[in-house]
Amino acid sequence: MKTLKTEIQTIQESFKKALESVYSLDELESIRVTYLGRKGTIANLMPHLAQLSLEDKRELGPLINELKMVTEKLFNEKKEDLFDKSLEEQEASFKDFDVTAYKPNQPEGSLHLYTQATQDIISIFSSMGYSVEDGPEVETEFYNFEALNIPGDHPARDMQDTFWTTLPNTLLRTHTSPVQIRTMQQQTPPLKVIVPGRVYRHEATDASHDFQFHQFEGMVIDKDISLSHMIATMKHFLETFFKKELKVRARPGYFPFVEPGIEIDMSCPFCKDGCSTCKKTKWIEMVGAGLIHPHVLTSGGIDTKIYTGFAFGFGLTRLIMIKYGISDIRLLHTAHVEFLKQF
Ligand code: DAH
Repeated sequence: MKTLKTEIQTIQESFKKALESVYSLDELESIRVTYLGRKGTIANLMPHLAQLSLEDKRELGPLINELKMVTEKLFNEKKEDLFDKSLEEQEASFKDFDVTAYKPNQPEGSLHLYTQATQDIISIFSSMGYSVEDGPEVETEFYNFEALNIPGDHPARDMQDTFWTTLPNTLLRTHTSPVQIRTMQQQTPPLKVIVPGRVYRHEATDASHDFQFHQFEGMVIDKDISLSHMIATMKHFLETFFKKELKVRARPGYFPFVEPGIEIDMSCPFCKDGCSTCKKTKWIEMVGAGLIHPHVLTSGGIDTKIYTGFAFGFGLTRLIMIKYGISDIRLLHTAHVEFLKQF
């Protein structure tokens, strides 16, 4: 019993000594493990205690408890102390941090053109009360084709155009139009949405084609919607996006999901008499659009006796290439720093 008593004292003293030579939280932790850990010096006293007589236990039990309390208290004080010191050191090192060491005109990062253009487009359309919708890039045949009035034998379903997945009736969406149906199913009119997003086509890559590119879809459903609403919307959007007064013209165009379908051209924002961008025609083909086909409205659960709507689909990639004069689509899709840092 005497030896156990001395042992308790010795442990307390050696613990105190050990703490004195600790300068980091890591060192402190290893001392905690040695003394206070589950298999540490103090825990190891317990089996010895168990062998003593009841009387001795009554005397030594509390001493061991006290040893525990005292060492834990000393440990915590030391920990706080070290923690404060490390904060002070950190602060002192921040004081030496010289912000003026950065030279002006060092290279800076910038948002990718896709991000910049998407933000511009969202801001233009939200000022007209549109909200932004999103949909899956891995889509079902139903949403990508069927619900959009594209029957099974339509050429757009050709294996060459579509990336089918190994799952049945599942593909990489070939356009952002499926989000029209998803939105109609989830919301009730009046609806005004745009849908920027990535789409995929099974095509060979060249300067103007890639197997992936970006589009943005637009859709308005309300009572008494007509083509003139759409043409005015397109004119306003294009003029704001190109920061120029423009003319627009509509030509008939075929898309299974609209009736009538039209294609809208804008007057070339870059020339008066013809240039390489407009291929000397003074007009640039911009967007496919039309009044939403009643079959499509019905697929989306919209009552065609009450509502009509228009829809349009821009090639966002094409829009960016025209606006910024980019002649090769592949530049947009690779991490070509020399190219990207111009924007
Ligand atoms: N989805 C068509 C495409 O990928 C573009 C399009 C045309 C979308 C007419 C529309 C539309 O909403 O009305 O070529």
